[in-house]
Amino acid sequence: MSQPLQHIAIIMDGNGRWAKKRLLPRTVGHVRGAANVRHIVKAASEQGVKYLTLFAFSSENWRRPPEEVSALMGLFLQYLESEVAEMKAAGIRLRVIGDRSAFAPLLQSRIDQAEQDTAHNDRLHLTIAANYGGQWDILNAARAWQMAHPEKTLQDMDEQALAAHLSTAGLPDPELLVRTGGESRISNFLLWQTAYTELFFTDLHWPDFNGAALQQAIASYGQRVRRFGQTDEQVMNSHTTNKHPTAQPTFKIS
Ligand code: FPP
Repeated sequence: MSQPLQHIAIIMDGNGRWAKKRLLPRTVGHVRGAANVRHIVKAASEQGVKYLTLFAFSSENWRRPPEEVSALMGLFLQYLESEVAEMKAAGIRLRVIGDRSAFAPLLQSRIDQAEQDTAHNDRLHLTIAANYGGQWDILNAARAWQMAHPEKTLQDMDEQALAAHLSTAGLPDPELLVRTGGESRISNFLLWQTAYTELFFTDLHWPDFNGAALQQAIASYGQRVRRFGQTDEQVMNSHTTNKHPTAQPTFKIS
């Protein structure tokens, strides 16, 4: 059974260990990691991926040593300054999700500019999660919903209503989540959006994760049977396979 795959989300882990293994400072691992973002965006675009979401900086990453945080901020700024012109030409639309108010004004304005400059592109939708946390996203969405509907109570809110206020509103949920670096956890990434996502964990550190590894993750996804709460038999007989369950009013999720 062929599996539609539009959206891949990636937790880019292992930069520090990549560097440590080579007796290099952790920041060198992040430099290599940033260079790899460029390679993987290109590879994903060539492999026909329509949506790619990358976890670049979590809301918990502020706890790292200040020099590492500052190196990561610098790399993000550098990435925007060096890549946006090419993204524009390559049909890549950039979005940044997360609480950007904590960033330096220059970084915030570069993010705004990059989003505006690429807003009409549609070949690949690249979303970078920066100062992002899944719990923050859900809480924020609930608050935004309440602000938008002051006359309603929480009893009136349903899944679609909340999802419309998530930072990823308008993007399909990822069908596949890849995590590099050998750990097997979600780490407060797209908690709501990955409810039915297939997970792929690899021991490769992020700087070593290349186009072939991406292909492998995609191939693994192709072998998965997505049941969305149904039985194998129902899935085999169903014409509605691979649709999000909330789009199917005929069955309940238990
Ligand atoms: C996890 O590796 C990686 C990060 C916390 C940052 C990811 C950042 C980049 C790939 C570069 C900058 C991003 C952009 C978009 C230009 P880790 O440091 O936790 O590695 P470790 O687990 O081996 O210590």
